[in-house]
Amino acid sequence: MAPALWASSVWESEGFDDAHRRATAMRADEFYGRYANPTVRAFEDAVADLEGAEDALAFGSGMGALATTILTLCSQGDHLVATRQLYAGTLALLQGPCRRFGIDVTIVDGTVPGAVADAVRPGHTTLVLVETPSNPRLELCDLDEIGSILGPFTVVDSTFATPMAQQPLAHGVDLVVHSATKGLAGHNDATLGVVAGERELIDALWGYGVLHGAVASPFDALNGVRGIRTLAVRTTQQSATAQHLAEWLDQHPGVSVVHYPGLATHPQHDLAKRQMRQFGTVLAFELAGGRDAARQLIDGVGLARPATSLGGPETLVCHPQTTTHASLTPDEQAECGVTDGLIRMTVGLEDADDLVRDLDRALG
Ligand SMILES: Cc1ncc(COP(=O)(O)O)c(C=O)c1O
Repeated sequence: MAPALWASSVWESEGFDDAHRRATAMRADEFYGRYANPTVRAFEDAVADLEGAEDALAFGSGMGALATTILTLCSQGDHLVATRQLYAGTLALLQGPCRRFGIDVTIVDGTVPGAVADAVRPGHTTLVLVETPSNPRLELCDLDEIGSILGPFTVVDSTFATPMAQQPLAHGVDLVVHSATKGLAGHNDATLGVVAGERELIDALWGYGVLHGAVASPFDALNGVRGIRTLAVRTTQQSATAQHLAEWLDQHPGVSVVHYPGLATHPQHDLAKRQMRQFGTVLAFELAGGRDAARQLIDGVGLARPATSLGGPETLVCHPQTTTHASLTPDEQAECGVTDGLIRMTVGLEDADDLVRDLDRALG
């Protein structure tokens, strides 16, 4: 019932002609590990099914997926529009290496209706990149709006949602990206990325990807398939617990604001209801006591644990300003809404009441 783990990185051919065929075929299954691998293929097929895509391509990490996508589709002099609501690593890739390679990057506020489309320069913009819900403040970008942009390729990082909560391709978006390290693999034991979309585009990514080399390991792909087999039950329970905690935190005097798309107070709650089936397993909140309160919470939790990833079975808390977003300048942090008292929490599979007790004690 479980896929086989093909550890092999090299396959023997049947002779001269077969060696030529394998070396020149698109994504030949049994040739060389950087080109394709049957276990990785099983993970790619599962993700393509979940996203309603023709095909998918796996990578060694979410950043591997993003870097390969950008560098496949953008050349020197091309224009790229991205939202500022991005994982700090993605933002650093755009503002550092991409600009150094001569890609003209425009960053806009993805929560402002029409802002992304308005920044597109017809004939120059080759790529639009958004993340929704975004890391770390759970801001949303309108998928219908992104899907209706004509001209550039449109790419959505849907890591926080997983395919259980939203399917960007159904909104007309060209490619959906995941850090499968998170909810898809879902057990904090795989470092994995994936892109899904039309076969022609995925083939183009593969053509550059074999040169870029950020390929997925078969072992991680196996854990990716294992994670997908329980994705629906995990995300359903985790989203329900996240909603419960968000509502509880919203009433707590030590918390000044809770960021969760499932809360009626979230400024984009109506959009969330339109484009998401679940509101996700991650929430963020701001502590009225700022950085000192953040330190006390991170040091004070017991059941929840201080760590920076998300989407796994364990509830984790992190202080983005000093961890995930520490590489940004104070101005950039302020622009991304990464404040002194901001805490990001990924909700695991523990009992919701146990988590409330843990948070209550730590906040107290
Ligand atoms: C939204 C999002 N995209 C991409 C990444 C990068 O993924 P990885 O760590 O698998 O390279 C992350 C990592 O936290 C993320 O949160």
